[in-house]
This record gives sequence, C-alpha cells and structure tokens, in this order.
Amino acid sequence: MEGTPDDLLRSFIGPPLFESFVRVGMFNDEDAHKAVDLYRERFNVVGWKENSVYPGIPAILKALKKRGAYVAVATAKPIKFSERIIEYFGLAPYIDRLEAISMTEHHADKGVIVRRALPEKYTRACMIGDRATDIIGAIENNIDGIGALYGYGSREELTEAGSFAIADTVEDLWPLLFDEGEEKDEGLFITFEGSDGCGKSTQARLAAKWLTECGYDVVTTREPGGCPISERIREIILDVKSVGMTGECEALLYAAARAQHVKTVIEPAVKRGAIVLSDRFVDSSVAYQGAGRELGRELIRRINEPAVQGRMPDMTLMYDLPPMKAMQRRLAASEPDRMELEKQAFVEKVYQGFLEIAKEEPERVVLIDADRPVEEIEMDTRRELIRRIAATK
Ligand code: TYD
Repeated sequence: MEGTPDDLLRSFIGPPLFESFVRVGMFNDEDAHKAVDLYRERFNVVGWKENSVYPGIPAILKALKKRGAYVAVATAKPIKFSERIIEYFGLAPYIDRLEAISMTEHHADKGVIVRRALPEKYTRACMIGDRATDIIGAIENNIDGIGALYGYGSREELTEAGSFAIADTVEDLWPLLFDEGEEKDEGLFITFEGSDGCGKSTQARLAAKWLTECGYDVVTTREPGGCPISERIREIILDVKSVGMTGECEALLYAAARAQHVKTVIEPAVKRGAIVLSDRFVDSSVAYQGAGRELGRELIRRINEPAVQGRMPDMTLMYDLPPMKAMQRRLAASEPDRMELEKQAFVEKVYQGFLEIAKEEPERVVLIDADRPVEEIEMDTRRELIRRIAATK
C-alpha cells in the first residue's frame, strides 16, 4: 500500500468507498461489499452527525436562491444519509433536487448522478466538487467543473481532472458564481426573549453552536452588556448597591447600554453578513420597565429610539414559561440578583408584558412553549431559525 496512513485515509474521502477498498488492494470484491455495509452501519447511527458544513456555504446557497438559481446536490452517498444530513444542517430550503445512490448500490458513476441532477433545460450550469470524480462527472455532461480546494482533493488532482477553475476557499466561489460588483447580502438580527429563568440563554447558546456547525457566521451577544462600556453599565444596574434606583433611571441606563451595543456590535456584524443572536433586547425593556415598572410601553419605545436606530430584530424567539415555574427554575440555578429579588407581582406583570408584545407583533415574535424538556425546545428553535434564515425576502 502506498503513502502514509493519513494520505491513504484522505484518498478515501469523496470517491465511492467500494472502489477505494478495491483500488488500494485492501479487499477483494466480496469483502469490500461487507466493509461498505459495516461502514454504513456505523454511519447510520453516529457518523452522519459528525459532519459540519464548510463556513460560508449557506450564505452562498441563500444568495443563489435569491437570484433564482436551481441548486442540486449530486452525491455518491446513499440517499437516506444524504437526505438526513441536508435536513439536519438546515440546508433543505436551499436545495431543489438531490441525486444520490440507493442503499443497495455500492458503485456510483458520478457522471450519471450529475446528469440526473441537472434540470431539463438550462443555459449555464456548473458542478462544484472537491474530488477528481466530481470534475470528471461535470465534463462528461459538458458543464464546468469547479474544483473546491477547501475540501479533500489536492490542486494536482483537481487540475489534472480538468477543473474549469479552482476555488482555494469558500469565499473564492463568489466571483465564480455571481456577477462582478454584486453586493453581499446583509445578515440577520435575531433576539431571544422571555422572563427570568425561561431558558432563553441556554437556547441561545445551543442555537449558536448549531448554526456554526451549519456553516453560518454567528455572533452571540447579550443585554444589558455585549461590549465593554455596556457591560460596565450592566454592573451598575444589577449591583445590589443600586437598591433605590428609580424606574426612569433604570430604563435610561438600559437604553444607554443598548445604544453602545447596537452601534458597535450589532450593526457592524449584521452589515458584514453575520447572524447576530442577542440574549435580550428592547422587548426586555418594554416588558420589565414598561409593564413591570409601569412606565408604559410607549415611553420605553420612545426613549429607545435613539438607541435602536431602526435596527429592530428580524425575528424574536420568545420563550413562554409561566412565572411560578420560571421562579422555581431560577432559584434552583443560581443566586438571585437585585432584579431577581423583586416580588412576584412584578414578575407577573413582566410576563404579561412579554405576551402583549407577542400579540402585537406576530410577524416578528415567535412564542415558544418553554415548559418542556430542553431538547424539545431546541428542536422548535432550530425549525424557526431555519425558516427565518432561509427566507430570501
Ligand atoms: P439577564 O442577563 O438575561 O439575566 P439572567 O441571565 O439572570 O436571565 O438579564 C438581567 C436582568 O435585566 C433580567 O432580570 C432582565 C433585566 N432587563 C431589564 O429589566 N430590561 C432590559 O432592557 C434588559 C435587557 C434586561
């Protein structure tokens, strides 16, 4: 057998597994079939989740969709696994067609798969792939093969196969796929809201991890805070020494912290194309200071205008947990801070304040039942996130 074990393993990624086993002389045909079945057995249980999407890919898929492109996946992986992977990583909304192989097939001719994946009529088409088999499959169908060097193939392999162009990085795909001077799309601003102890911070953390695995550029932040000056304001507000702070003072401090946060963190990240996830935002002020401290929602919205500067969330995930349950969870988790020591009546008003916002803005605010196991809430969160992120309007 040639090469170091690492090189040998790399050469297995991409081409059909059966052929690789036979090519390196590891097994005869019969044993190679058995080996493929064993590989699939493990892949079926754990292997498929050990993937992650190359950073930047979903942004490209979204931009393609927005411009009306037809996007197909042509893979030598079994259909069942391919579907599951596409679904799990939130790629399904971007993909018009999936062509893969059946579970009983062990051989796959990439050229045939590519042909099946192409639409009936097209004027321009290309196939992006990281192995020689992908490029050869493209050429067999008279379309351009773009070599993805960020994958597992080498420059020599992709060049020799006849790549029309080679993308060293995912970013290099932009000029190959889009017209010159086309502006990159803005990102999205998504907030996580709800009463204390509703579990929104856990969900924000899980969402950030998952979206990163899905290939998105994710920025996580929180309020009050999110940047050094605002974190200092946070300390003043939440400090037990601040007992006696008036509602107006409190509301203005939250707005002041927000002004800095929006301008220095949220706005630049969204402009760059990132997905910004913020644990709390202006809805918290409307619920806590507006409803809870009874300053009125309109006053709170007004004093927040210069802070928000029109940058309202594209979507708000609001975790709905009745106050009594929220209180029980919170006290079990950590020491209460000043805000948390407020009496139950206040908590109830805040809760109602949040529900009012959800009722007022059903387009923006998605209410999620938070009185369930974390995993179930996480699945709902993922579904809502992808629904909003993949929307191209
Ligand atoms: P948070 O950091 O979410 O607290 P925890 O991690 O304990 O859930 O928020 C701190 C407190 O600040 C919380 O009780 C809610 C309150 N708050 C407001 O009253 N108004 C606001 O505008 C914001 C952002 C938070």
